[in-house]
Amino acid sequence: MKKPMVVATILEELRSERSLLSEPVGFVPTMGYLHDGHLSLIRRAVEECVSVVVSIFVNPTQFGPKEDLATYPRDIEGDLRKLESMGVNLVWIPTSEVMYPGGYQTWVDVETLTLPLEGKLRPGHFRGVTTVVVKLFNGVLPGKAYFGQKDAQQVAVIRQMTRDLNIPTEIVVCPIIREPDGLAMSSRNAYLDPDQRKAAAVLFLALTNAKDAYGKGERNGENLRVLVREMIVAESLAEIQYVSCADFGTLQELDTLTGKTLLSIAVFFGKTRLIDNIVLV
Ligand code: PAJ
Repeated sequence: MKKPMVVATILEELRSERSLLSEPVGFVPTMGYLHDGHLSLIRRAVEECVSVVVSIFVNPTQFGPKEDLATYPRDIEGDLRKLESMGVNLVWIPTSEVMYPGGYQTWVDVETLTLPLEGKLRPGHFRGVTTVVVKLFNGVLPGKAYFGQKDAQQVAVIRQMTRDLNIPTEIVVCPIIREPDGLAMSSRNAYLDPDQRKAAAVLFLALTNAKDAYGKGERNGENLRVLVREMIVAESLAEIQYVSCADFGTLQELDTLTGKTLLSIAVFFGKTRLIDNIVLV
């Protein structure tokens, strides 16, 4: 009979439970409030690995001082029920004290790739992400770790970090899971009021409209950015923070598209900041 799912908090508990798992071990780091986007990563890990570890940790160091750390949605009981039913072996729910004990002073910082886009608008965000991901990896020692293309720059930064630091974990990237109207699933969608929720469908419409133009031969970066902007601006509840058309590898803005391209956006609906993207190949 399969051993019941184990929940660990402190590092010693995690390490001893981890040592009992059969290889290969797959790992899905999350901040909880699990939706079908998270679950798609976990399903893939269950398919590909003998054992699966999931972490739930709302990492304070990746939130800016004016961001939503205090109000970030949480539902540990509901999350654990979902994880148990999917066949997850081990869940790590560290406390802030476990991850950042008093006197903490070590950080992982990826340089150039964190300068544009999310990194530019959320100073310190990726330093928090890369630091916590290394700490989670050092606890779980996974053969494979699963991340969503929803956070495209996060994936690029984590790939760069694992390469630069010789981290022996394979990074697996999974496609964006969307609601029926195209809105990318996100824990932050819970903040939207009904009107904002309806209006937020414009994000995917704008991205797919630009992808259609690309399919018809449009290769001018600015024209594609303008196409996306014009559709989003027409939605009065939306306030654009950025529309980017950048090289997929370097994340530098493009005048002319030549290879794989990332079209990405950050848009406010009231106080709620949503991001989305589409890859042009
Ligand atoms: P969180 O926002 O909880 O997301 C956990 C993982 O789920 C990330 O890899 C994210 O890209 C993926 N994900 C979220 N929404 C998705 C969707 N609609 N489709 C597919 N995948 C989706 O990202 C984080 O947490 C944190 O930064 C973390 C990596 C855990 C470090 O703290």
